[in-house]
Amino acid sequence: MKIALFAGDGIGPEIMAEARAVLAALDLPGLVVFEGDVGGAAYRRHGHPLPQETLAMARAADGVLFGAVGDPACDGLERHLRPEQAILGLRSALGLFANLRPARMFKGLESLSALRPEIAGEIDLLIVRELNGDVYFGEKAQRTLDDGRRQGFDFMSYAEDEVRRIAHVAFRAAQGRARGGRSGRLCSVDKANVLETSQLWRDVVIETHADYPDVTLSHMYVDNAAMQLVRDPGQFDVVVTGNLFGDILSDQASMCVGSIGLLASAALGERQTAFGTFGLYEPIHGSAPDIAGQGSANPMAMILSLAMMLRHSLGREEDAARVERAVSQTLADGVRGDDLGGTAGTREIGDAVLARL
Ligand code: NAI
Ligand code: MG
Repeated sequence: MKIALFAGDGIGPEIMAEARAVLAALDLPGLVVFEGDVGGAAYRRHGHPLPQETLAMARAADGVLFGAVGDPACDGLERHLRPEQAILGLRSALGLFANLRPARMFKGLESLSALRPEIAGEIDLLIVRELNGDVYFGEKAQRTLDDGRRQGFDFMSYAEDEVRRIAHVAFRAAQGRARGGRSGRLCSVDKANVLETSQLWRDVVIETHADYPDVTLSHMYVDNAAMQLVRDPGQFDVVVTGNLFGDILSDQASMCVGSIGLLASAALGERQTAFGTFGLYEPIHGSAPDIAGQGSANPMAMILSLAMMLRHSLGREEDAARVERAVSQTLADGVRGDDLGGTAGTREIGDAVLARL
């Protein structure tokens, strides 16, 4: 089994070092690890934020662990040379259309949530966001109308196969989360009362449901979903939605949990490896230039991203659960970074997780 580590910019290398230590401690048989350059670091060394050799390394791997990209020193560069192009380029070149963003409350952190503790304590949900379509990728332009007014437009579309493949990912995720005799639940979020793309979305999700009779399906309009996420997040299990709505709802869900430094994500495509589904795994936060080099970043989102890679791409569910338990236990024991009102540094948090593995 082969994996690629792309640490990137800012706090990327600092948090990646801690994930690498956890990986080493697991001592996976036959594991080969490659390391590649991305982002501003790659631009400085190779003249491009996503060098060909990095892309080739990702293609040859069973999974990619990605730190973060973004570097204020690159602000003046043309758009296609900016560090952020590395992550966008990897997602599209590797066909990673399904973005999984789990959010769950860790024991002991309820009082740090933006929500009331008794409400926050109920959060255990997974947002499945479509990543390769929607209004982000449609034709876009600004033009001047005959009467001289300027107009901007972005074309929103979804083809049925694009909806169907993300629906399958979401239904399977819901099946995987069924437990204790309770069936998996999937809530599809759209705006079908106004948008044709959403009507098609809803129709295709309902059709796809026929393959998953054991999953309970519901539908919700996105405006209501935004409200319900804050009012009663405990009602959600798996949420599936389009690129635009998923972008917004997943950021909202993350803040309900306490810190951006705790949230991991997976971007999956259709390619199967010998051990699972090929994917790219990264914290949902960026390169945090404001705290880079200080050794104060929380490495937990990075370590939890490694756990997701173990689960989805490497077929190591037990190791994934082990890593997640070690992180939970570390938090429950009160080891917390600056982002959670504590004093532990990056290395100290990483060591504390290692000690509990
Ligand atoms: P950011 O997520 O990097 O930082 C937002 C705030 O959260 C900052 O105050 C930061 O210090 C804090 N923070 C983030 N991660 C943390 C951690 N692990 N521990 C403790 N505190 C943490 O977002 P921002 O500042 O908007 O963007 C910085 C750069 O990152 C930009 O260049 C942006 O384009 C890039 N970016 C890259 C992403 C990626 O690589 N996938 C995703 C989001 C932003
Ligand atoms: Mg976002």
